[in-house]
Amino acid sequence: MKNGKLQAAVIGLGEGFRHVKAYRETPDFELAAVCDPHPDPLPERLARRLVDYDLAHTTRRYHDYREVVNDPEIDVASVVSPDYFHAEQAIALMEAGKHVLCEKPMTLDLGEAAAIAETVRRTGRTFMIAHPTRYTPAFILAKKMIARGDIGELFMAESEYAHNYRHVGGDGGWRKDARRDPLLGGGCHAVDFLRWAVDDLIDESFAYGTKKGLADWPIDFDSYFALYKFKHGVIGKVMCSIGLSRPYTMRSVFYGTKGTIICDNLSGKMQLSSVPFYDSPADSTAFIDIPVEVNSHNVEAQVKLMADIILRGAKNTADVVEGARTVAACAAAIESAHTGKPVKVRNDF
Ligand SMILES: NC(=O)c1ccc[n+]([C@@H]2O[C@H](COP(=O)([O-])OP(=O)(O)OC[C@H]3O[C@@H](n4cnc5c(N)ncnc54)[C@H](O)[C@@H]3O)[C@@H](O)[C@H]2O)c1
Repeated sequence: MKNGKLQAAVIGLGEGFRHVKAYRETPDFELAAVCDPHPDPLPERLARRLVDYDLAHTTRRYHDYREVVNDPEIDVASVVSPDYFHAEQAIALMEAGKHVLCEKPMTLDLGEAAAIAETVRRTGRTFMIAHPTRYTPAFILAKKMIARGDIGELFMAESEYAHNYRHVGGDGGWRKDARRDPLLGGGCHAVDFLRWAVDDLIDESFAYGTKKGLADWPIDFDSYFALYKFKHGVIGKVMCSIGLSRPYTMRSVFYGTKGTIICDNLSGKMQLSSVPFYDSPADSTAFIDIPVEVNSHNVEAQVKLMADIILRGAKNTADVVEGARTVAACAAAIESAHTGKPVKVRNDF
């Protein structure tokens, strides 16, 4: 703490700029450092944004995440580097006493997920996983409606991560790496949303994968249908494709005994069909529209929650166990698509 504020650092300056903005706008924080390994001269996009955010003058600028680890003033760091570095960086930061807000996917590897969980337990640091669907207005409302029984008893739930990656390779093309399976790298958004909305543990997964759209990428599958069996009777489905030809969407549908909810992270309305609406003889197919705010990348809410946890003892609703369970649910589906067999999902982290 300095000047009564938590000192924050952001590691990785692509999506990391959303974190920069969020720390800047949250009174509990002072943005003390940013870190990105690009040597000078910086690429145009980075140089311009450093100027736009006035970072060159107002924060320390590091090139190696270990400089953040060794900076005694830093209290909280956002890990927004490419996925392969999350575990190494998050663990080193917590070992040095820092709290961590880690971008999704938490890791690409179950062993690393367990190692992060062990580090959180041992160091007692706050670790939050940045799954944005948990702060998306339509999805928050859908979860609330399910929990209070607006659609009766939930029995089927589906979500999708439909995102054409032809032009989304990442800085230096890191998303094309064979280690970055799309169901973990991007599909984790839909898997995590399903887990959070259904509010139950997943027991087992069965999945199919195919690859047509991104035939030249070194990944095994660019598209998946993954089925999930929840412990208490809900069945779930995640469609994940990064090789399709359509605009980005995370359309999600929840089926209950008395109604159905359709929602999307980028739509200004969600739809509800519920008794008595659909039972009405006048219009048996009616859905009612519910207007919702569109805010699909609400990093401000995540940063605010981080401060509330650290300073005011709020509950961490996106803790390391949540992050690890989502990694495990994705990993089980990926394994199933490769083996052709159902795979049990690990939940004990
Ligand atoms: N929450 C979301 O909706 C969301 C959206 C986009 C990306 N992400 C996640 O954010 C992370 C970064 O993705 P991106 O879109 O910003 O990628 P990007 O390629 O646009 O930017 C990544 C930045 O990280 C830097 N970098 C590379 N190696 C690094 C290292 N070892 N340490 C620190 N920085 C390093 C690069 O120089 C680059 O500036 C990924 O984990 C991605 O999955 C999350």
